[in-house]
Amino acid sequence: MRKLKHLFENNRAWAERMTAHDPTFFQKLSSQQSPEYLWIGCADSRVPANEIIGLLPGEVFVHRNIANAVIHTDLNCLSVIQYGVEVLKVKHIIVCGHYGCGGVRAAMQNQEYGLIDNWLRHLKDIYQRHSEVLDSLDDAARFEHFCELNVIEQVYNVCHTTIVQGAWRRGQALAVHGWIYGLGDGLLQDLNLCITSADDIQALYRMAVQSSLL
Ligand code: CO
Repeated sequence: MRKLKHLFENNRAWAERMTAHDPTFFQKLSSQQSPEYLWIGCADSRVPANEIIGLLPGEVFVHRNIANAVIHTDLNCLSVIQYGVEVLKVKHIIVCGHYGCGGVRAAMQNQEYGLIDNWLRHLKDIYQRHSEVLDSLDDAARFEHFCELNVIEQVYNVCHTTIVQGAWRRGQALAVHGWIYGLGDGLLQDLNLCITSADDIQALYRMAVQSSLL
């Protein structure tokens, strides 16, 4: 007997619904994908990229990991960015964090979790960079603000990849955005960070850090 039968049933029903709505849907998709957006988000099961922004399969290229981190030596994330920017030619890269992020929370604590502590080390570095402000807040505000700062820092990292720098140098239109999602209301917030050229990075990064405090 097939394992996880209910998931296969769900899948069949979904494929039928999609085909009923558009008989050529899967046919068209299987021949090519041309998404305009690359989504870099948290692996959290409550933050499904396509659903949150109401996009169909084929419309958003997705990379997710714990705490939506963009690490300069992470070949997985860099390969997604490279393929997205250079082959699919996405026009927007969206780094989307979320409030209540377990990865961000873990990076604020001293508890040991094993292998993942090495991944969270990058977030702990971010905390260190902003510790003066973060340490001055109460626990709830500190957690929220750290979630926001993490997005801003990851946008900064995306902008400094050789891939994005190269795209801008070639004159390719590419915007990098920082958003945050609320688990409690299902709503996205723009962190007022949208970078479209190498010249804008420093000033817009500083402005986003400052305005996230207001
Ligand atoms: Co998370």
